[in-house]
Amino acid sequence: MNGRESGSGLLGDTKDRDYARQLSLFNRFAAPELRRAIASLDLEPGARCLDAGCGTGEALPWLRDAAGANGTVIGMDLSTAHLSVARAQIPADVALIQADLTKPPIQPGSFDLIWSVNTINHVCDLHSGLAALRNLLRPGGRIAWGQSALLADMYFAWDARLERMTTAAVRQYYRDKYGLTESDLTAARALVGMLRRNGFKDVYARTFAIERVSPLASEDRDYLFDTLFRDKWAARLQPYLSDADHAQLALLCNPDSASYALSRPDFHFLQTFTLVVGSL
Ligand SMILES: C[S@@+](CC[C@H](N)C(=O)[O-])C[C@H]1O[C@@H](n2cnc3c(N)ncnc32)[C@H](O)[C@@H]1O
Repeated sequence: MNGRESGSGLLGDTKDRDYARQLSLFNRFAAPELRRAIASLDLEPGARCLDAGCGTGEALPWLRDAAGANGTVIGMDLSTAHLSVARAQIPADVALIQADLTKPPIQPGSFDLIWSVNTINHVCDLHSGLAALRNLLRPGGRIAWGQSALLADMYFAWDARLERMTTAAVRQYYRDKYGLTESDLTAARALVGMLRRNGFKDVYARTFAIERVSPLASEDRDYLFDTLFRDKWAARLQPYLSDADHAQLALLCNPDSASYALSRPDFHFLQTFTLVVGSL
């Protein structure tokens, strides 16, 4: 079973799993690009939208703004903890449903748009997940699958070698911890083919660059420190790096060190977010 829990998502998601903090940090960090991605969909006023795998719900008010006053927005997620954070921060006219998106308790043909971000690589049976979501769209309705790159393209701009060693170490860590394969680690590449094979038309892809340089805004520092550096890279990657590389990485990840990466004047971060859209 590759270390995966039976009946759970690929990354071990269950209704009891809670990584709400990381989700909120990511959404605050990537808000400008995520909002641009939603704007690029040019929703019709009054559109009926489902956020499948809505997590802590940051995209729900953005979708609601895009759908206008007569629009309908529903968030669906498996996790109790994620939904309780969402509940506390969404507008009163946005509904939440706790359900497995592969078995949604929703009438077929109910939506004009399904927005689903960074959820594709968490669903255990991707094909039945996509078929279930397809069934919820009206004829002519659209699905917008978003996926941010699991690994950034650039984070240690001043040291390409250490960046390459760290990237290889992170990949190996993910393979060992979650049993992920090479294709699991490059999920965005599968989206276009997946939509076409599942009967979607007019499929297109648009990649947004999430690019930040120093000095960083607080939401950028918080996300990068919390989700990459703190307790993670330096400690978890030790078995996959030489002692010298690990020591250097530990200094770059430590906010108390003079070498802290996020305080360097040459810090330049680049990560992609790919949105693939198809219609019925
Ligand atoms: C990485 S998070 C992304 C959340 C949100 N879309 C965002 O961009 O912040 C993946 C979400 O999918 C949910 N999830 C995983 N498997 C699911 C399933 N089978 N049905 C519904 N939600 C699921 C998880 O609980 C989690 O909230």
